[in-house]
Amino acid sequence: MAVSIEAKNLTKEFIVTKKEPGLKGAFKNLIHSEKSVFRAVNKINFSIEEGQVVGYIGPNGAGKSTTIKMMSGILQPTSGDVTIRGGSPFQDRKKVVRNLGVVFGQRTQLYWDLRLGESFELLRRIYEIDDATYQRNLGILNDILNIQEIIDTPVRQLSLGQRMRGDLAAAILHSPPVIFLDEPTIGLDVDVKYCVRQFIKDINDQYHTTIILTTHDLGDIEELCRRIIIINHGEIVHDCSLETLMNEFAPNRRLIVDLYQAPQEPIELRNARVISQEGARICLEYNKKETSTGDVVEAIAANHSIQDISIEESNIEDVIRTIYAKDSESA
Ligand SMILES: Nc1ncnc2c1ncn2[C@@H]1O[C@H](COP(=O)(O)OP(=O)(O)OP(=O)(O)O)[C@@H](O)[C@H]1O
Ligand SMILES: [Mg+2]
Repeated sequence: MAVSIEAKNLTKEFIVTKKEPGLKGAFKNLIHSEKSVFRAVNKINFSIEEGQVVGYIGPNGAGKSTTIKMMSGILQPTSGDVTIRGGSPFQDRKKVVRNLGVVFGQRTQLYWDLRLGESFELLRRIYEIDDATYQRNLGILNDILNIQEIIDTPVRQLSLGQRMRGDLAAAILHSPPVIFLDEPTIGLDVDVKYCVRQFIKDINDQYHTTIILTTHDLGDIEELCRRIIIINHGEIVHDCSLETLMNEFAPNRRLIVDLYQAPQEPIELRNARVISQEGARICLEYNKKETSTGDVVEAIAANHSIQDISIEESNIEDVIRTIYAKDSESA
């Protein structure tokens, strides 16, 4: 598989002014302000193959958008480098721009004063998109994002969800093989969110587009990304599949069993730990890799009549919350 995106020791430092508290401090800052260096992204390394959809996640302020900005040539790295299909977003700007589509959910890339269709026309000229490609892409985008409905609306009049559809379309009009989506589902209702997820799936399926997605919506991650990179305090803390992460941080499964009759004695099993036993309801926990649910049920059924069972899987949100909390403690 060809490598699409590669970051090597990618680092970004910002010069920040040390703020003194209060009004007095603000005046003091005007006259003499002390500067310090803040490292927002610290020596990150990753290699992403063509056609991968990677979730780039982390808590607020972790360094996600800063990374995306360096990868798209908006910010120059302080040190280290990144390449998109072999080109540097800074040195080979022209080449990289053609290979790349970027969407920042928090800010539109469209032209505020133009109608959406006029924005597209402008992009068609900027990217020198040939007629056939342009028409084909518009057709496809219309199918997925229902663009026709909003094409004559001035961008400033678009609702958030309509604007996001417009932004996504604009980012791929020139058929880029790589796209970066920084919070593309932020603030969207369930319908538009579904539509955006479908769009991501479709372009990845049909065009093998390499996609980096940052989002705080873990449903996006669960549905779209087999690989996730977690960044915290500017450093990568995990780079693996969602499954690996879940197995490592949530190895256990819970089973709730309702019996027909409350047992006389406390239940003890070889293959599962009893968490609680209240009347006829038993709650058990076991390692899902080592023990199957069937085995646990069978062990109980040997001595008791089971009325009902339910399984509680740990969810990705709990796991991610544990990871963020853990990495913040050690920072
Ligand atoms: N231009 C800048 N000057 C100074 N500090 C900055 C600048 N841009 C970002 N930062 C700081 O760098 C850190 C990382 O910011 P970044 O926007 O990359 O976070 P993020 O992971 O995208 O967070 P969020 O989930 O809130 O979008 C933050 O502490 C932020 O305050
Ligand atoms: Mg951000």
